[in-house]
Amino acid sequence: MKVKVSLKDKMEVIVDNWRKTYKEVISNYGDVVIDNIKVSQILGGMRDIPALVCETSFVDPYEGIKFRGYTIKEVLDKLPKPKGANYPYALGIWYLLLTGEMPTENDVLELEEYIKSKQKLPQYVIEILRNIPSNTHPMTQFSIAILAMQRESLFTKELHNLAKSDYWKPMLEDSLNLIARVPVIAAYIYRKTYRDDVFVKPNNDLDWAANFAYMLNPYDDYIINPDFQDLMRLYLILHSDHEGGNVSAHACFNVSSALSDIYYSVSAGLNGLAGPLHGSASSDSLKWILSIIKFYNRLPTEEELYNYVNSYLDAGKIIPGFGHAVLKVTDPRYLAFRDFVDKYKLDSDIFRLIKLLYKVVPEVLSARGKVRDPYPNVDGHSGAMLYHYNIKETEFYTVVFGVSRILGMTAQVIWARAVNYPIERPKSLTINDIVNIAKSKK
Ligand code: MLT
Repeated sequence: MKVKVSLKDKMEVIVDNWRKTYKEVISNYGDVVIDNIKVSQILGGMRDIPALVCETSFVDPYEGIKFRGYTIKEVLDKLPKPKGANYPYALGIWYLLLTGEMPTENDVLELEEYIKSKQKLPQYVIEILRNIPSNTHPMTQFSIAILAMQRESLFTKELHNLAKSDYWKPMLEDSLNLIARVPVIAAYIYRKTYRDDVFVKPNNDLDWAANFAYMLNPYDDYIINPDFQDLMRLYLILHSDHEGGNVSAHACFNVSSALSDIYYSVSAGLNGLAGPLHGSASSDSLKWILSIIKFYNRLPTEEELYNYVNSYLDAGKIIPGFGHAVLKVTDPRYLAFRDFVDKYKLDSDIFRLIKLLYKVVPEVLSARGKVRDPYPNVDGHSGAMLYHYNIKETEFYTVVFGVSRILGMTAQVIWARAVNYPIERPKSLTINDIVNIAKSKK
């Protein structure tokens, strides 16, 4: 079965325009110097070097993420919502990231239906997961399961018989296949690793995000919980994309530039997401919050928290869930979770402590100086949301992040194949080369 005609037709037109624009930009402005690069940037994780192109989203240091130009608030207001839900269909964000157009209800429903038709997980993937020891990190299991499906890649099968201009088409098909299956894989990893090893079949009456919430079945009761489904819609929208330079998106993009298919590429991206400085910061942040409550055996007072945070920093440790490489304000994704807490009147010591940390940590960090961004990022709030709905196994949080980030990774890769983005191959220098260049310029 091939992808529904309307999305493919729409993409044909969009891809044609992108290609024209890219060609024009190279021929009109190919020699223009955009920025100078400092030695400190080369040695400092390439921070702020504008060396990548990404159409799907942009992170403004002061306004945060803009998905195809739309803020989080605009996306949540404008994307179509399922009947009775407070939050939109999560697949709507993929449609927006991919096409650059806000989908109509019909567009999203068509996509939801198509995804449902592809979500049956092949038995060999279930068997592979069953045979992985349960004490294997859930992110490792997730990446293995995705890599195992590489054998099904249409892109790899068709590549050598295709015109370059058509590369994006099987990449789109593969991406749809992957998007359909990842919540089923992730939910099964959760069930087999932490619960009863029962494979919960997808429920065709539910949208993609709600179905993920249902298959996770965190209360072991198979009851459809509308609040948790709304949380999952929000969660999967918020983490979907964060421009091109973050580790997961860039690792995926870089691997795909060698014309590796989406399974190889996404698996690579997820391996990057697994790191404590990236996706697993959500788990570390919640563990830290829980450790504070455990230390006091209650909610600390504001003064106690000031002292606690200061001693923590004095011990040379980094506060998880605060600061960001690009942002200079509170991450709007963090604020979107806070709004959810208020909307659904969620109450717990964890949420109270998160509010207190929001007051205390930026003050402490700012008072100590030299902090580029003392404000909380999404990881400072996201784990608490899952914990509240009984997903207490913090190691699993990165997998949920991964299910969402696959939306952005796939949209970015389809776009790259559409504009025939070449293999990424930057030049590297030795430290001696850098010293010699620096001396000659001084
Ligand atoms: C992300 O969403 O990937 C993180 O905020 C990391 C980043 O954007 O650099």
